[in-house]
Amino acid sequence: MSTTTQLSQFATDTMEGLSRPQKVMLSKYFYDAKGDAIFQQIMAMPEYYLTRSEMEIFQTQKDAIFNQVCPKGLPFNLIELGAGDGSKTKVLLKHFLKMGIDFTYYPVDISQNILDELVAMLKNEIPELDVHPLNMDYFEALKHMEQFTGRKNVTMFLGSNIGNFQVERLDRFLKKLQGYFKPNDKLLLGVDLKKDPDIILEAYNDKPGITASFNMNLLVRMNNELGADFDLNQFKHYAMYEPVTGEARSYVVSLVDQVVRFSELDFEVNFEKGECIHTEISRKYSVKNLNHLSEKCGFVTSANFFDSKQYYVNTMWEVV
Ligand code: TRP
Repeated sequence: MSTTTQLSQFATDTMEGLSRPQKVMLSKYFYDAKGDAIFQQIMAMPEYYLTRSEMEIFQTQKDAIFNQVCPKGLPFNLIELGAGDGSKTKVLLKHFLKMGIDFTYYPVDISQNILDELVAMLKNEIPELDVHPLNMDYFEALKHMEQFTGRKNVTMFLGSNIGNFQVERLDRFLKKLQGYFKPNDKLLLGVDLKKDPDIILEAYNDKPGITASFNMNLLVRMNNELGADFDLNQFKHYAMYEPVTGEARSYVVSLVDQVVRFSELDFEVNFEKGECIHTEISRKYSVKNLNHLSEKCGFVTSANFFDSKQYYVNTMWEVV
């Protein structure tokens, strides 16, 4: 590495995370073009019930959701954090337009690739929609919230994405978000609920191994972008679910003692046999847990929308 080379954020975060006593990777790095494509496969697989539950809620309760979002028919900004490919959101977008409401859609996503796909899909399927994509992470998006003035703001955070935050970070994030809320602004969260632990574990540990390839894609990405020499046969995906905290946790585990070298960086990492990289937390909530969270962060719950199996909830929050 030449001393003049500016290290990418990915390089810096990788070295920082893999130098810790307990190795970690930031989950935002799952979503390169290949990761986006594998995640779309995850959403389509039978084990990953989350997507279908949220879709069912939107399809069957879009009128009730609309009445919460827009009781007076006034124009609003619709900000979606972690919009992804928009496959579920478009059900609501189409419905809101059908109701003849004036709104602007601001999809926020860390992946420029998925935003491009989203915008192309929307141009094709909902050409009359006013869309302003924002390529940034959640924390940058928060700073952006100040800009959304003048109109009522409706913020959506779907796909159980709040479950991917560390507990303290989520509290700080929601409190900060709450600080930008005016009376009548709304937050629509999609949250996966605690349930039979075996059902949850399957969603993060499917037998065909799609989730495994998603998790291991982090290693592929380090190989491709940072010149690392991870041998995928010497690592495995491991997932577990802990029903008290509601945490589904994903790891990449080293199967042997080994050293991984990063040829583009002046960096190498030792792994002992059995040592792991913690890659993701997907936290599940009970309705009680969620009420506690909203209260702690200064919100009140104005409505809950469940799917028919009660696997999942879309909860609507506001400030008073
Ligand atoms: N937001 C998704 C979730 O928590 C992300 C996800 C699904 C994921 N499957 C995964 C992350 C497997 C890491 C590993 O459900």
